[in-house]
Amino acid sequence: MGGHDPKDRMKLLRTREALLAWRAGLPAGTSVAFVPTMGYLHEGHLSLLREGRRRAGATGQLVLSIFVNPTQFGPGEDLDRYPRDEAGDLAKAASCGVDVAFCPTDGAALYPNGTRTWVEVEGLDRHLCGASRPGHFRGVCTVVAKLWGLVQPSVGLFGEKDYQQLAILRRMHADLNLVGELLGQPIVREPDGLAMSSRNTNLKGTARQEALAISRYLAAVRERFAAGERDSAALLADPSQALAPGRVDYASLVDADELQPVASVAGPVLVAVAAFFGGVRLIDNTLLRP
Ligand code: PAF
Repeated sequence: MGGHDPKDRMKLLRTREALLAWRAGLPAGTSVAFVPTMGYLHEGHLSLLREGRRRAGATGQLVLSIFVNPTQFGPGEDLDRYPRDEAGDLAKAASCGVDVAFCPTDGAALYPNGTRTWVEVEGLDRHLCGASRPGHFRGVCTVVAKLWGLVQPSVGLFGEKDYQQLAILRRMHADLNLVGELLGQPIVREPDGLAMSSRNTNLKGTARQEALAISRYLAAVRERFAAGERDSAALLADPSQALAPGRVDYASLVDADELQPVASVAGPVLVAVAAFFGGVRLIDNTLLRP
């Protein structure tokens, strides 16, 4: 290896066995930061990698996984359309100082001989994305638990755009006594306000511009809150109209910990939105603290 190109220093591992062997070879006490992704890396992912690099320090290891996890996609969802660009991702990863990229070539690498064990966090998946994507969080928790067990990180980093995912994973991490720390990081936005997402690349024609309705809607909710409004229905107002021509999946106001709908704001709440633009399902959110 050696060389001056960071890509020459980054290890590319394809199998569980290779990852386990690499992990077992690390000196005890090595700090390991881990960023699990489904690839098609954007600035949001890169901000997680940069923070991971900072936390791992000069002597620690930064691990990225790229795996489009089939078990978190329901029938008819966009598994086949999910964007992929491994070569581009690896170049970006190297520029962020990734030491190890774990990129299994197929599902069997993480689900050998089928799988009979599933991880499910009860209750927190009842609303928001859990209501419209049954089984989604079971797939997310299962794959993250598998990856966590292989990487055994000191810290794992996740974006707050997927706030419900983060809340559920935090609970799984605590309930299963997983090693290390699980950290959320702020949403990264395009200059015009659209939350960064790998799916944004599938927004064609006018859909990209129309999708700005989401961040504008969340800003309007924040303005009503800043003006003193505390009633949930009044804060949410008329999402279908505000997000048109997007098709609203949900626009909800829930308490920030248990993710249960609240009638009015007394403690920290999450305003979460999912809507389709040009057939692409996007999510975004904002926290309100009285
Ligand atoms: O947020 C994602 O990209 C995925 O849900 C994750 C956490 C990598 C699990 O597949």
